[in-house]
Amino acid sequence: MTLTEDTSKAELFHAEFAEAVHTGLTGTPRRIPTRFHYDARGSALFEDITRLEEYYPTRTEIGLLSAHGPDIAKRAGGACAVVEFGSGSSRKTNILLEHMDKPSAYVPIDIDEVALGQAADRLRARFPGLRILPVHADFTRHIELPREIEDTPRLGFFPGSTIGNLELDEAVEFMARAGDLLGRGSNLLIGADLRKDLKILLPAYDDPGGVTASFTLNLFHRINRELDGNLDVSRFAHVAIYNDQIGRIEIYIESLIDQSAQIMGRQYRFAKGERVHVENSHKYTLPQFQGLAEKAGWRTGQVWVDTGNLFSLHYLARA
Ligand code: TRP
Repeated sequence: MTLTEDTSKAELFHAEFAEAVHTGLTGTPRRIPTRFHYDARGSALFEDITRLEEYYPTRTEIGLLSAHGPDIAKRAGGACAVVEFGSGSSRKTNILLEHMDKPSAYVPIDIDEVALGQAADRLRARFPGLRILPVHADFTRHIELPREIEDTPRLGFFPGSTIGNLELDEAVEFMARAGDLLGRGSNLLIGADLRKDLKILLPAYDDPGGVTASFTLNLFHRINRELDGNLDVSRFAHVAIYNDQIGRIEIYIESLIDQSAQIMGRQYRFAKGERVHVENSHKYTLPQFQGLAEKAGWRTGQVWVDTGNLFSLHYLARA
């Protein structure tokens, strides 16, 4: 990518962020989209979350990938290109690639350019013969795959139950678009978190050490940093609740007092107890998730679940 392309992309993203914050804070209910959590600081804090004792999804999914890696590799076959949506640190990809039979390329797609570059460097060192073709993009938007993998069979990889951060209809839409992008004959290996006891679920999204709170509140720090804001972040709190009807964790930033703040020259008031909705994390039943995948045009195949029934990994085929 050229310098000017990079600059205009950054400007565009900045404008989108400004627009999303203004729209989100003037709408009812107040809502700021998920993707803005992941600046360099947010990605680093999210990495810390994945290493928390309370946060079961990462280690459970890594366990599934390790245990069933050979089976996954056999299904995928040789010489395929792995395309990962929201690759972050690409930690799980290491495990997948290790098992695979001479994968021909790895295409990580991520919204955070810093995390993307670092992960690409690490993987290049680890798998010297593998072509690594990073794509800096928001995977919920239109994406183009690198020319180099035009004629290669593709395996999509979407771990971390990141799909759960989308609304149910958005999840279907995303899987359908991923199917169009990956093309006929492709497969999708996708992680989906399962419904479970709240004693396990709630601490995963509200750890006593406050790492999750820091991750959530980084969004307001980011507004201060990038949108010339003066939010007093110490007067806001991270709140995680379980919405039993929909089956999802909802994350809010709650104002601890009556206050107001300036962002890009505009004033916003926050009443005490008022919340800004900043994230959802859906928890599925197996048939529910398979239903969404099928609605999106995928054939459901093998499903792997850990012995504790915490997390599921699905191998889908393009119908
Ligand atoms: N994909 C992760 C999940 O749903 C994202 C996540 C984990 C998250 N913890 C969070 C998002 C806390 C916001 C706040 O599990």
